[in-house]
Amino acid sequence: MKNPLKTPKVTFDRIGQILFTIKEITKIAYKIKPGLLVLAFFLNAIWGFLAVPGFYLQKFILDELISSIGITDIKPVLIFTGGLMLIALLLSLLRNFLSGYNGFLRRSLSRYLEAELSIIIGGKLATLDMATIDDPKFQDRFNKIEKESGRRAWGLMIPLTDIPNYFVGFASSLGVILLLNPFIAIGVFVSSLPQIFIDSKYIRREYELYTKLSPLRRISNWLDMYLFRNRNIMELKLLGIAPYLAKRLKETINEVLGQSLFLSKKRQFSRVWSLIPLTLFELGVSVLLIFWVVVQKITVGSFQLYISSLRSAEQNLTSLVSSFLEIYENYIYVNDLSWFLGLEPKLEVAGGGKFKESDVLSIEFKNVWFKYTKKHPWLLKNVNFEIKPGERIALVGENGAGKTTLIKLITRFYDPQRGDIFINGKNLTDFDIFDWRKKFTVLFQRFETYPFTVREAIGFGDIDRVESLEEIKKAAKDTGIADYIDDLPLKYENPLTPRFEKGIEPSTGQWQKIGIARVLFKKSAKVVILDEPTSNVDPEAEEKIFKELTKLARDKILIFVTQRFSTVRVADRIFVMDKGKIVEQGTHKELMAKNGKYERMFTIQAQAYLENSS
Ligand SMILES: Nc1ncnc2c1ncn2[C@@H]1O[C@H](COP(=O)(O)OP(=O)(O)O)[C@@H](O)[C@H]1O
Ligand SMILES: [Mg+2]
Repeated sequence: MKNPLKTPKVTFDRIGQILFTIKEITKIAYKIKPGLLVLAFFLNAIWGFLAVPGFYLQKFILDELISSIGITDIKPVLIFTGGLMLIALLLSLLRNFLSGYNGFLRRSLSRYLEAELSIIIGGKLATLDMATIDDPKFQDRFNKIEKESGRRAWGLMIPLTDIPNYFVGFASSLGVILLLNPFIAIGVFVSSLPQIFIDSKYIRREYELYTKLSPLRRISNWLDMYLFRNRNIMELKLLGIAPYLAKRLKETINEVLGQSLFLSKKRQFSRVWSLIPLTLFELGVSVLLIFWVVVQKITVGSFQLYISSLRSAEQNLTSLVSSFLEIYENYIYVNDLSWFLGLEPKLEVAGGGKFKESDVLSIEFKNVWFKYTKKHPWLLKNVNFEIKPGERIALVGENGAGKTTLIKLITRFYDPQRGDIFINGKNLTDFDIFDWRKKFTVLFQRFETYPFTVREAIGFGDIDRVESLEEIKKAAKDTGIADYIDDLPLKYENPLTPRFEKGIEPSTGQWQKIGIARVLFKKSAKVVILDEPTSNVDPEAEEKIFKELTKLARDKILIFVTQRFSTVRVADRIFVMDKGKIVEQGTHKELMAKNGKYERMFTIQAQAYLENSS
């Protein structure tokens, strides 16, 4: 594989990468705050340009003074030079003000960029398909983008907004010299090259070092986190590992700092050498200019003008190149970012048939085969079933049988590779995916615990009704969590994390009940799916929840996934899953009569239960 960082010379390839980085980040910044970005570019350019008028003012003042030496009528001279001085001072005041204001603009831009990047990245992530997000290669690249965005926003905006100022400053100063003598103008370029070369070399080395040290930095971040995370404090105390973590943290930081500082020092020394050609060139030009003054080819004021322009051109040129190189440091990040922002969802796109409000739904799987990626073995193998409107289905089966995977296909986070899923006899892929998602409500096995208020943690089930407190209370009551909430200091406005004042942390079982309340809260759903929702609540509560669920309106399908066979007897039908297949389906009675897997599993669990309770 080609590594762009290994080429030591400034190649066209690298210039292309620099331009790419500038283009992409300007596009993003422009999308976020167009007015602010244009203003920052414009005012920075003005600031850069205003140096040259200052040089001319100096020239006029100096020339006037020299031609007035020994004059008797000094009043007009005083008025003229005094006037020029005043203009020069106002100009300098204006430049000062502009410089301060530009600083404010670029700080604002960096902050906006930092904040908006997280919003853009989060928003984009939500549109991508699960198959994309699950991919480890995606995860790797995405983690990098996500972790670095804050730092990069600053590192990109500052050099970017500097470019107009250095560029205009360089062009206008060089213009002054070009008018005098084109050869001197070329000399500016040539004598600046060593410095540009050294800068470019060290910025590349710093970048390589940064990349090389990033595993160490990652380690120090982890150490840091485990040393300070208050969730950890009890274990830190018991295990007594804080001094060990602190020692390792110190060692890692020392190593990172040591290597970076060593390189910085070397850079400073090399800089001194690289300045020699520039200094000699300046000396040569100065001698030439002095000669021209003596032979009266140019005035003393012009001498001053050219010397100032020369310095300004050189400084702006090297600064301009530094800005480019600083931007280049972000090339890989920006490349990753633009790759990520360019990803398109394949499955999750709007379009297709919509449901009517009154539709009751049936679900049919016909010869469905599925695996997560090509490399995996089949996880669903020729699955067939039909769920009629309003049926209560219990889906049972051991760990890894494919129950959750089946749910992910019904909810269309993935499409099957073979076979079809039909809703009311029409292929699921012919419906609008977002309309379909409005039709169901799911509590996944690995559900989210929202650390917001109780009202929100339940209300998120139907975000349009997140303010409907009475109905939220009803859902809490149906799940058997209402008493617990009423005892909280802030009741339904209580935060569900101890990090906020009066916040509490519910137990795992309580979280599950809140999750079930969230699912029940979505009244409009026609399919209710609960994936092992009661694994962490006591059997008594489980029975209550299950009873409550069977009371759901009869126009809703209920799919209840569990590994406990004892609670599923009341279901209309039971599907037994084993190794990616539905091996049995029927009522409790039918399945018991069959003397198959269900009957065996049921008997084993019932026996264990009897033994435990006796
Ligand atoms: N995102 C995934 N990528 C690859 N394999 C997966 C993924 N999710 C689950 N699996 C595998 O699929 C199989 C079935 O998992 P799952 O449907 O969660 O089983 P169950 O819910 O019945 O316990 C398991 O072997 C699991 O390791
Ligand atoms: Mg599961």
